[in-house]
Parts: sequence; C-alpha cells; structure tokens
Amino acid sequence: MPWWFFRRRSRPAASQTAPAAASGWQLGEVALPRLHGSRRYLQEQPYLLPKDLGEVNRLDFQHYILRAVLRGNYLAPIQQPRRILDVGCGTGQWAFELAQQFPQAQVVGLDLEQVKAATSPPPNYRFVQGDILQGLPFDDNSFDFVHQRLLIAAIPQPAWPGAVQELARVTSPGGWVELVELSTHISNLTPSGPANEYLASLTGQLAALRGLDSEGIVTRSLDRYLEQAGLVKVQRHPIRVPLGEWGGRIGSLLALDFRTMWTAISTPLAARFQIPEQDVLQLIDQACREWDELHSSCSFTVAYGQKP
Ligand SMILES: C[S@@+](CC[C@H](N)C(=O)[O-])C[C@H]1O[C@@H](n2cnc3c(N)ncnc32)[C@H](O)[C@@H]1O
Repeated sequence: MPWWFFRRRSRPAASQTAPAAASGWQLGEVALPRLHGSRRYLQEQPYLLPKDLGEVNRLDFQHYILRAVLRGNYLAPIQQPRRILDVGCGTGQWAFELAQQFPQAQVVGLDLEQVKAATSPPPNYRFVQGDILQGLPFDDNSFDFVHQRLLIAAIPQPAWPGAVQELARVTSPGGWVELVELSTHISNLTPSGPANEYLASLTGQLAALRGLDSEGIVTRSLDRYLEQAGLVKVQRHPIRVPLGEWGGRIGSLLALDFRTMWTAISTPLAARFQIPEQDVLQLIDQACREWDELHSSCSFTVAYGQKP
C-alpha cells in the first residue's frame, strides 16, 4: 500500500488512485447493486452490510446489546475527555450517549452517510461525513478519545494497520483509541455445527472478494495494530457472549441480531453463489437452531491503547 494512502486529506482529487486499487482489490468485479431486492447497499465501498432503515434498526438494537455486554459504552480508562470521535458511527447512538455522559465534551460522529438526520442529537454532537479509507478530515492530535466499533465488514484487511495509524494520528498525546470488533471467522463460534460452517464459508468467500478479513486475523491483531501505531498501555479483552435462547436474555437478543445480520446479506449471498435465496434463508434458520442445540457462544474483542 503506498505510504500516502492514509495521509490526511479532506477530499481526494478525482485523479488520485482510488482506495480500492490502493488496497489491492477490485470492487468492480463484486460490486453489490445499489438496490438488491428490498435492501440498499453502498456500491462504491467494500462495506458488505446494507445501508437502509432496516439496518439502522438492527444497529441500534445491537448497540444496546453491546452496552449490556460491556456494562457500559467503553473500557478504556478515559477521565474527562473534551473531544471525542466515533469513526463509522452508524446510527450515532454510541456517540449520542457519550455526548450526554460528557456534556462538556465535543463529540463527533463520522460515517460515509448520515442516518437518523431527523432526530435531534445532543447539542454537543456533530456529524462529519468522511471515509476512513481516504484518511480522516481532522488535524493531528484533535481528539482525547477515538472509538471505532464493528468496521470488520468495511475496512479491507490490508488497510487495517494504516486505518489504526490514522486513528492514532488524530488522537492527542495522553488520549485513548478504542477498537471493538467481532470476528466473523467460524473459529469465533464455539461450538459450531455444519450449517454455521457452511454459512461462514459462504460469507467468508463473499468478504474475501471485497478484500475483507475472512480468517479472523484482524480481530486477533487489534492490539498489534495499536502498538504498531505507537500506542502504549495496550490491552486486548476478548469477551465471550452466549448465542441463542439457551444464553438467557443476552443470548436471545444476540441471536436475533445475528439472524437479522445474516438475513441482511442473504440476497448478495444467493446472487454470488447462485443459490436460491430460500435455501440461504433455510440455512440461516438451521444455523440459528444449532446455536441452541450446541450451546454456542461467540466473542467480541475490545482493544485500547494510549497515545504517549
Ligand atoms: C456495522 S456498522 C457499525 C456502526 C457503529 N459503529 C455501531 O457499532 O453501531 C459499520 C458502519 O461503518 C460505516 N462505514 C463503512 N465503511 C466506512 C468507511 N470507509 N469510513 C467510515 N465509515 C464507514 C457504515 O456506513 C456503518 O455505519
């Protein structure tokens, strides 16, 4: 990847090399149609999940599950941050809550597109349109706390070290960077059954076509990326969460979230592998049943580090 790939720039000139080419994958071959069935996807990005109202609802739902699992919105030992950035902020719910928790702080949510524009966010919250793959439109040392959650289906694997360096660049000395990820590799689900293995293999192939990590490498490397970006006091916490009715309230909620997430990519999966969509939906049903039969669990990884 060329060294300038993650240099700060607010708007890349049309003549500059596209990030797709720079990170070694060709989106053209595998682009999801913008509208696929009833779902809307981002055609010009590696991002695999839909960008529509259904996904807004799922992300908010998932936010509350994660907040319950982590018993809060972050693990880094932040004190009274004055400037907070959430990269790939999705619906903005995490950032809204940080803005409420730290009313003296300025909180910025950055994403490719703004959603929930009609809702009234806290007065100390601001949305900035941006693309982590193009570099962040902020000066060095701009934020005391930089958070990025669940961009595994958005940042191609070769781009991860540079992306984390970019998060570190905009963090002030003494400030913290926190990453939260879920590995989609089958090894993250224990125990797993044949339906889950097949579904993970299809999804892995679809992800790999877009340059995304299909081996669980990124989630295992989060602490290394933080260290390589020059951060200190780096910690990595894998957090196991039950999946399925057998796991009580959290297990049931997470199962619904995962089922919705698989269903959200059932159309692209069916199209890519030329399988009837009904068969993909049946496979998802079977995979969900396996979680209860086998008492499966999965793990989220939280990693954070401080800029010296
Ligand atoms: C799975 S969602 C997670 C949203 C939020 N972080 C959360 O935990 O609820 C991933 C988000 O990353 C955004 N995204 C995808 N590619 C991105 C990019 N290159 N730069 C910035 N945001 C991106 C998507 O638009 C989406 O809102």
